[in-house]
Amino acid sequence: MAASTSGPWGMLSRVFAVTDRGFKGYVWYADGRLVGNASLMHADADLWVIANVTTHPDYRRLGIARRLMGAALDAAHAAGARQVQLQVRNDNAAAQALYLDMGFWRMSTAATLRLTQVPTAPPSAPHAAGITLTALGRSDRHVARRLLGRAGDLDRGGPTALTVQAIERAGWLDVLDDWLEGKSRRAWCARADGDMRGLLALQTVRERGPHRIDVAVEPRWSGRVEPVLIDAALRALAPRHRGLEVEAEVETRRTAAIAAFRDAGFRLVRVLDRLALDLD
Ligand SMILES: CC(C)(COP(=O)(O)OP(=O)(O)OC[C@H]1O[C@@H](n2cnc3c(N)ncnc32)[C@H](O)[C@@H]1OP(=O)(O)O)[C@@H](O)C(=O)NCCC(=O)NCCS
Repeated sequence: MAASTSGPWGMLSRVFAVTDRGFKGYVWYADGRLVGNASLMHADADLWVIANVTTHPDYRRLGIARRLMGAALDAAHAAGARQVQLQVRNDNAAAQALYLDMGFWRMSTAATLRLTQVPTAPPSAPHAAGITLTALGRSDRHVARRLLGRAGDLDRGGPTALTVQAIERAGWLDVLDDWLEGKSRRAWCARADGDMRGLLALQTVRERGPHRIDVAVEPRWSGRVEPVLIDAALRALAPRHRGLEVEAEVETRRTAAIAAFRDAGFRLVRVLDRLALDLD
C-alpha cells in the first residue's frame, strides 16, 4: 500500500505493508530509514487488533502515525472487520490524542499489578471463614459462566480474561501453544452458603515470566472473596514457582480486587485503556 509522496509528504517515503495471514505490518520509510510502524492482527471473527504504533522521535507530529493507522484501518475494513481494538497507557497523552481524534472510544480501563516475589509462606487470608475452594470441574462451567456475566467479565473487551478462558473449551491450537510456551493452567471456584461466589484462574510459565492470576467475584460478595482467591493462588505458586514475577490485570472499577492484590504485596505497574473503533 502506498501513501502520497507529494505535497507535505514529499520528504517522506511511503507506507509499506508486510502481510501474512492474520497479520499485517505497516512501516514508514523516510530519508532511507524506517521511522514508523503499526501492526494489525486478526483476533476474532470480525475483530482485529492494532499494536506497536511508533514513530521515531525525530519524525513526530508529521502525520506518520495517522497515515499508518489509516492504512491498517483500511486493511481491517477490507478484511471484513467490524471493530478494531487497541490498548494504550492511560498516561500516554500523545497516543490517546491520536486515537481519540481518529474516532476510537474507551471500552474499559485495566490496572496491571505485579508481585516481584511470591512469599515462601503466604499469609493466611483474613476472611476465609465459610469460603471453600474446589478445582473448577466441567459441571461447574454453566454456573461459572453466569457468575462471569454478572461480574461483567464476559463483555469487557480486549484480550479474554483467564477466568473466561477457563470455562471455554480450548482448541487444539491453544493447547499446542500452551505446551510450546511451557504454560500450564489451573482454575478453582469459591463457594459460600452453598453457591459459587468466585473464580480463580492461574497460568504458570516455566522459564519466561510472569505467571498470571485472574479473579472474578460475584458482585454481592466482592471484598470478601478476593483475598481468599489471591491467597490460594500464591499458596499454589509458592512451592515450585517462586522464581518469577506474578501479574494480574484488573478492571479499575473493581476496587475491592485491586485493594486485595495490593494487600497481598502487588504493586501497580500501569493502567491501560482499551479503545475500540467500530467500522460498520
Ligand atoms: C503516539 C505516536 C505514535 C504519534 O506519532 P506521530 O507520527 O507523531 O503522530 P501524528 O503526527 O500522526 O499525529 C496525529 C495526531 O495525533 C495527536 N498527537 C500526536 N502527538 C501528539 C502530542 N505529542 N500531543 C498531543 N497530540 C498529539 C494529534 O491529534 C495529531 O494530529 P495533529 O498533529 O494534526 O494535531 C508517537 O508520539 C510515538 O511514537 N510515541 C511513542 C510510542 C507510543 O507511545 N506509541 C503508542 C503506543 S499505544
